[in-house]
Amino acid sequence: MKETMPSQDSICRICCRGIYSCHWSQRTKRERRRQRCPCCWFLILSVVSLLTIFWMYVCLMAVNDQDDVNWFAFSKLKKRIEWINWFMVVVVVAAVLVTYCCLLLLFALFQVALREPLELHWIHKVFLFLAVLIIAGGIAGITFKWKEEWTTVHLSLQATAPFLQLGGVVALTLLSSFVFQRVVRSQRGVSRFIIMVAFVVVSAAIFLCPLAITSPCLLDKPPEKPALIGHRGAPMLAPENTLMSFERSVKCDVMAFETDVQVSKDGVPFLMHDDDSVRTTDVAKIFEGREFNKSSSFTWAELLKLNAGEWFIRTDPFGTVSSLSEQEKAIAKNQSIPSLAELLTLAKKSNTSLIFDLKNEAHNNSDWSHAVDTILKSNISHAQVLWLPSTHRDEVKEKAPGFQHVYSNKTQMDLERGNWLNLKYNTVDSKNIKELRARNISVNLWGVNEPWLFSLLWCSGASSVTTNACHRFKDMNEPIWYMSPNRYKIIWISVDVASVLLMLMLFLLQWKHRQRNRSALWNQAELHPFLPSN
Ligand SMILES: *[C@@H]1O[C@H](CO)[C@@H](O)[C@H](O)[C@H]1NC(C)=O
Ligand SMILES: *[C@@H]1O[C@H](CO)[C@@H](O)[C@H](O)[C@H]1NC(C)=O
Ligand SMILES: *[C@@H]1O[C@H](CO)[C@@H](O)[C@H](O)[C@H]1NC(C)=O
Ligand SMILES: *[C@@H]1O[C@H](CO)[C@@H](O)[C@H](O)[C@H]1NC(C)=O
Repeated sequence: MKETMPSQDSICRICCRGIYSCHWSQRTKRERRRQRCPCCWFLILSVVSLLTIFWMYVCLMAVNDQDDVNWFAFSKLKKRIEWINWFMVVVVVAAVLVTYCCLLLLFALFQVALREPLELHWIHKVFLFLAVLIIAGGIAGITFKWKEEWTTVHLSLQATAPFLQLGGVVALTLLSSFVFQRVVRSQRGVSRFIIMVAFVVVSAAIFLCPLAITSPCLLDKPPEKPALIGHRGAPMLAPENTLMSFERSVKCDVMAFETDVQVSKDGVPFLMHDDDSVRTTDVAKIFEGREFNKSSSFTWAELLKLNAGEWFIRTDPFGTVSSLSEQEKAIAKNQSIPSLAELLTLAKKSNTSLIFDLKNEAHNNSDWSHAVDTILKSNISHAQVLWLPSTHRDEVKEKAPGFQHVYSNKTQMDLERGNWLNLKYNTVDSKNIKELRARNISVNLWGVNEPWLFSLLWCSGASSVTTNACHRFKDMNEPIWYMSPNRYKIIWISVDVASVLLMLMLFLLQWKHRQRNRSALWNQAELHPFLPSN
């Protein structure tokens, strides 16, 4: 039995060694002794790999809010660069890091299995250090500039924790074989004991964490599906806040259009989100020098000259333009800024409600009355208007008593006996949502773009969500997953038990193997039965 002292090199060995330590030939004993602390580097590699996996997870969960990142970068760099999907860059970097670290870890485990020495090449050490730096930068960025995203990551655990736990059990079972090999071959009782205790503690934590897992989707029957509200229409399928965008959202059966209203210099309410029109129109070309002026400083006749769709095809803000047909692209390129009156006509025709914010309100005190006049003139049913702007609410109630009033502030809603709440999805938990719904209050949650989040809020009982991605949710008939708490209990307990049994088996196998080797060596009367463990 020569397994502890490989004499002949197989391709696999050479490859593994080459990638991990950048030495293609076996090293002499002296060279090996020079290498300091190979096990420490293995530990560091494991920790960095876990860190990259964590970072990848954070990035994937933040995809729902990618527009916030891109918008932030755009507004900071506005005068120099046009819209770039920075978030995609972050995700690609994270994917590269996680692939690199996990592959390296895999090769390290092969090295262990092949009983080769673990010598990490310095270039890998440098890369690992870089990975830690990049991730630390990312985590610091979120913590200082985007704190609420941690709430989203926390929330996401309610959707993913059961699966992460199952994945953890599988990974643990696979890794246990390596750990047992180490333990069985370890010479010193102390290190054997430490490894074993650490392993048992980690295993117990992974096996028992379902006791701490709560999820609104652990239920017998999900509540009614939340209605959809198209955020600026369907901005993934057409340029935001254009008639094309709202028409596309009608095809998703949205309950309401969400939009942003501003009033032109000559008193015409029109639809635009940003204070200026540089992102979503060709104003820089048509009115050179005025591109950073407020959109509300233009007359309606001037605004009509702007193209509000070419930017969408050019910058592809959601990476979705390739899914559009040629005809759709041509229509998108030919969009102009719509007036509120045009949207009201569409809302009336399609029996869709309307919810909007007034932009620039602080500056133009009479915007609300222009908006209300336009709505009254359109003859739309008042019940279809969800009035969100919080200033001048009393005047609006007097002028148009039939509007439904929507609040962003729960205290204010309770004061005015409202029954419609509009909140960002990560500012309220499922318990609050259930309480509000029990009081017959409609709860709309905005910023919901990914199916996992939609499912979670569906389980929590939200009455509607505002989304960029109505086309993704339109055909969902139930949440991605839900199951009764008892069923989940049975699943995790049986998986845990199966894993424990498998581990016991692996341990006994390793033990037997070792015993057999030892007696074989004794029988051959070798003097050094205990070769140094690598
Ligand atoms: C573009 O829009 C204008 C008016 O909105 C219309 O007259 C013209 O036919 C449209 N062109 C295309 C290619 O759709
Ligand atoms: C319009 O929608 C409301 C509820 O969304 C519904 O009660 C009403 O019957 C609809 N009207 C028509 C004409 O479809
Ligand atoms: C909500 O409204 C109450 C009552 O008007 C006010 O005191 C409070 O500051 C508001 N909260 C926020 C976050 O605006
Ligand atoms: C909520 O509405 C339902 C039916 O629409 C009614 O039965 C229930 O009493 C209401 N609950 C409250 C707290 O008003």
